[in-house]
Amino acid sequence: MAVVFSLFVLSSLIFSTEAQTRVSNISLGSSLSPTGNNSHWLSESGQFAFGFSPYGNGFSVGIWLENIRPRTVVWTANRDEPPFSSDVTLLLNAERGLVVQENQGGRVISIIANASFASSASMLDTGNFVLYDSSSEIIWQSFDSPTDTLLPSQRLSSRQRLVSGVSETNHTSGKFQIIMQRDGNLVQYPVGPREPDAAYWNITAAGEKNVTLNLDLNGRLYLLNDTGFVVKNITERVSVSRDGFHRATIDADGIFRLYSLHSNQSSNWSIQWSSSANKCDPKGLCGVNSYCTLMDTDPVCKCLTGFDFIDSARTNLGCRRNHTEDASTRKEQNFDVVELSSLSWEEDSYATFDSISKDDCREECRRDCNCEVAIYHSFRQVCKKLKLPLRYGRAGTGGRSTTFVKMPAGSRTISGEKVEKRELRMDIFITGIASLAIAFCVLAFSGVLIYRHRIRQYKRVMDQRDSKFVEDVTLKSFTYEELKSATNNFMDCIGKGGFGTVFRGVISNGKRIVAIKRLERVVADGERDFRNEMKAIGKTHHRNLVQLLGYCYDGTNRLLVYEYMKNGSLADFLFRSDLKINWDGRIAITLNIARGIFYLHEECHVQIIHCDIKPENILMDDKGHAKIADFGLAKLLMPNQSKTFTGIRGTRGYVAPEWHWNMPVTVKADVYSFGVMLFEIICCRRNMEVNVPDNEQVLVNWAYDCFKANEVQRLVPEDEVDRKKLERMVKVGLWCTQDEPSSRPTMKKVILMLEGTPQIPKPPNPATPTGVGGVSGDRMKRPPLAERPTHRPSSVMPLFVANHSNKPIDDFGVSHGVSRFSATKWWGKWS
Ligand SMILES: *[C@@H]1O[C@H](CO)[C@@H](O)[C@H](O)[C@H]1NC(C)=O
Ligand SMILES: *[C@@H]1O[C@H](CO)[C@@H](O)[C@H](O)[C@H]1NC(C)=O
Ligand SMILES: *[C@@H]1O[C@H](CO)[C@@H](O)[C@H](O)[C@H]1NC(C)=O
Ligand SMILES: *[C@@H]1O[C@H](CO)[C@@H](O)[C@H](O)[C@H]1NC(C)=O
Ligand SMILES: *[C@@H]1O[C@H](CO)[C@@H](O)[C@H](O)[C@H]1NC(C)=O
Ligand SMILES: *[C@@H]1O[C@H](CO)[C@@H](O)[C@H](O)[C@H]1NC(C)=O
Ligand SMILES: *[C@@H]1O[C@H](CO)[C@@H](O)[C@H](O)[C@H]1NC(C)=O
Ligand SMILES: *[C@@H]1O[C@H](CO)[C@@H](O)[C@H](O)[C@H]1NC(C)=O
Ligand SMILES: *[C@@H]1O[C@H](CO)[C@@H](O)[C@H](O)[C@H]1NC(C)=O
Ligand SMILES: *[C@@H]1O[C@H](CO)[C@@H](O)[C@H](O)[C@H]1NC(C)=O
Ligand SMILES: *[C@@H]1O[C@H](CO)[C@@H](O)[C@H](O)[C@H]1NC(C)=O
Repeated sequence: MAVVFSLFVLSSLIFSTEAQTRVSNISLGSSLSPTGNNSHWLSESGQFAFGFSPYGNGFSVGIWLENIRPRTVVWTANRDEPPFSSDVTLLLNAERGLVVQENQGGRVISIIANASFASSASMLDTGNFVLYDSSSEIIWQSFDSPTDTLLPSQRLSSRQRLVSGVSETNHTSGKFQIIMQRDGNLVQYPVGPREPDAAYWNITAAGEKNVTLNLDLNGRLYLLNDTGFVVKNITERVSVSRDGFHRATIDADGIFRLYSLHSNQSSNWSIQWSSSANKCDPKGLCGVNSYCTLMDTDPVCKCLTGFDFIDSARTNLGCRRNHTEDASTRKEQNFDVVELSSLSWEEDSYATFDSISKDDCREECRRDCNCEVAIYHSFRQVCKKLKLPLRYGRAGTGGRSTTFVKMPAGSRTISGEKVEKRELRMDIFITGIASLAIAFCVLAFSGVLIYRHRIRQYKRVMDQRDSKFVEDVTLKSFTYEELKSATNNFMDCIGKGGFGTVFRGVISNGKRIVAIKRLERVVADGERDFRNEMKAIGKTHHRNLVQLLGYCYDGTNRLLVYEYMKNGSLADFLFRSDLKINWDGRIAITLNIARGIFYLHEECHVQIIHCDIKPENILMDDKGHAKIADFGLAKLLMPNQSKTFTGIRGTRGYVAPEWHWNMPVTVKADVYSFGVMLFEIICCRRNMEVNVPDNEQVLVNWAYDCFKANEVQRLVPEDEVDRKKLERMVKVGLWCTQDEPSSRPTMKKVILMLEGTPQIPKPPNPATPTGVGGVSGDRMKRPPLAERPTHRPSSVMPLFVANHSNKPIDDFGVSHGVSRFSATKWWGKWS
């Protein structure tokens, strides 16, 4: 009797609550408030609700399943914005569409972009929230702007994507995405530009057009082609009761899962299918310099030996060295090499050696001042040298491979390290004095000659265009023995250049100090090609380029001899606290560099794309002028078809997105790198910095945020900087770092803008929004440096063919189109 009675009470309760709030046709003027009875609109069956739900320390607006506890949110509006306070009202308004209005202060936040023609709305029983115009046409629906979940009868169309949340309860855009690509592949990647190597799961219907991902009421996930044929079944039908339910969600851990609820009374989602069984599969789950390992079935991030977590409370942010390192002043005997086995990484190497023993691999890395990590595959006897940071580390998947990590000797024990440091300083001191003494001797012995040479060089700069004179300055060809003795058997390693190691040397019987670069791997075939290349580089003469004096082509050795720039690189001046350059000096340097790049792009007899513009490749002469180094080398190191060579590519953080997109790389790639470096020069900090607040970590993003908020002065360390000039620099930087190559200006325009000639239009967000979010304020966040790809697919070959077609081949071409259009129109004005 009691049971029957309580059942009756229960069902009448359910009935009454449904009867009270159930609305399927939401008319203009309807409103919701976070607190009180009126916090959401229910669908007709009462299964779905749209409205406010508690979130963080406030409320979010979204869609959830009403009958299930805990609340399962399937869509969130403005997911990357902070929560709303309780003192707000959500309104369906004729002029503004669906908005949230602050009761005090009156700020109005748009919930759905471009919904101003809405005249009614409806929460449908499928979980789709729909806005209609006055003729009952759908003008917006949540099914077209998914966040992380796909519901039955919803489809993910070509180019759309789901992005995971930060955690189960935090719906902010997280680290992973699943994309229905235009090429028919359904692929999971870490968030950020998509490079094929970062994909960690993939189902393909390649060759089919306009493929969509669908989930039906039976819990079947499948791919449909343009004509509605099933081209791929991903999951089989799941049998549940009539009121059961399914959803497919990309979870915060990066795994795409199909969940089922066997009946709406059970309130327990069961996993029917997962994209990966191993929770370490998603790439980027652990941050840089750390690797993922399973504990039972849960993924755990661990640091490399000698590294500590950047934030020990958030171990997935990655690791950094546990000591401050100054590798450039250390000599090889000051390094230990630690050995770790069976780890796998993204093998983004700058040099590769075949048929070499494990010990040689270790030594090869120890000797090379560029090398921070080496990976040795004992099966194939391949040794790869890498720089930090390492990405996508995993334990237990490396097979018979060994990871060598170089670390300063003596850092193994804390007390030992202190002693070592002191010794080292003494060591540096002595070397310093010794080299000063040598320099003095050299000067004294050859003062007159150097003086004469200077005059010659100065004259050359003055007479840049005097071709007769240019021919006079011929490149000298050296033998390996000559350069070996010039560098005292390669003792004095000074360089951190790409492409190879740089040594200090003395030529012309001790008359001239030079920088000698030993190239790691030259792929250009044959001596004639090499000499031709050298001649091409040798013919470049510009006051903002480092001059090539000679070269060596001897057996397997390829060396280049450059003028010596004793003041080191721009990186030293920007990032070392003791060497700062003032604001005006920095502006002058940006112009120097821009003119140098312009010369390479447009004034040389053959166009040269530098491919690796970064502060380390800008050298400073004794008058404080900047000169570009390492130009023309990318071509020399271009791989041929038979060898796999991954050494050539830009440097992480500076490479333009088209390197990852199978697009032809043009001079605009250099413009991009220049833009990144421009920000570094303005702000005297690295593009990626971990010891700053989250929103400031990626400089280009932060610069855009500051620009948008009209607070550019926050970017510059000094106080008294002319705001107009600063704003100009920031605008130039933002135009240069547009994701879309054709939106970037040419170097000629960059120079004009830096000099202040034209008015600069307001730059759009460099990271083009994808357009799939559809929700205002949902700008696609650029991933931090660690998540930016660096690896260029080897299929991108037409690298040095000047290509001016600039057609984007990106899947998100839609919204690129918008920004490209307006930008091209503008640049077109003065081309
Ligand atoms: C909603 O209701 C209004 C009148 O209350 C009506 O004019 C409108 O057509 C309805 N909309 C839908 C989609 O049913
Ligand atoms: C909420 O509903 C109850 C009864 O259903 C009513 O007594 C109360 O006044 C309502 N509160 C508000 C703030 O509307
Ligand atoms: C969600 O996570 C982001 C990033 O980790 C954080 O900034 C935000 O405050 C979090 N929001 C809530 C509601 O917890
Ligand atoms: C906004 O909505 C109107 C009316 O539906 C439509 O004509 C227009 O193209 C939309 N604009 C955008 C940017 O979606
Ligand atoms: C996905 O798989 C197919 C074949 O299995 C392959 O051709 C494609 O390149 C893969 N990767 C991506 C990112 O599409
Ligand atoms: C792709 O399919 C959708 C619906 O299935 C259709 O609306 C769209 O026009 C198609 N696009 C192309 C390029 O065929
Ligand atoms: C869709 O798939 C079916 C069956 O494989 C095929 O016959 C049809 O041509 C495909 N449609 C398109 C547009 O490719
Ligand atoms: C997919 O599954 C359905 C039903 O289970 C089956 O009829 C169909 O042939 C399958 N299609 C493919 C392409 O495997
Ligand atoms: C379960 O769902 C059905 C149909 O959607 C509905 O009639 C029933 O009331 C729901 N049960 C509960 C306990 O919410
Ligand atoms: C739901 O799951 C919890 C633990 O996962 C379990 O204890 C409980 O029995 C489940 N409830 C139902 C109705 O299956
Ligand atoms: C750095 O890491 C190494 C290896 O884990 C450890 O032996 C050393 O004590 C650490 N040094 C510091 C200063 O924490």
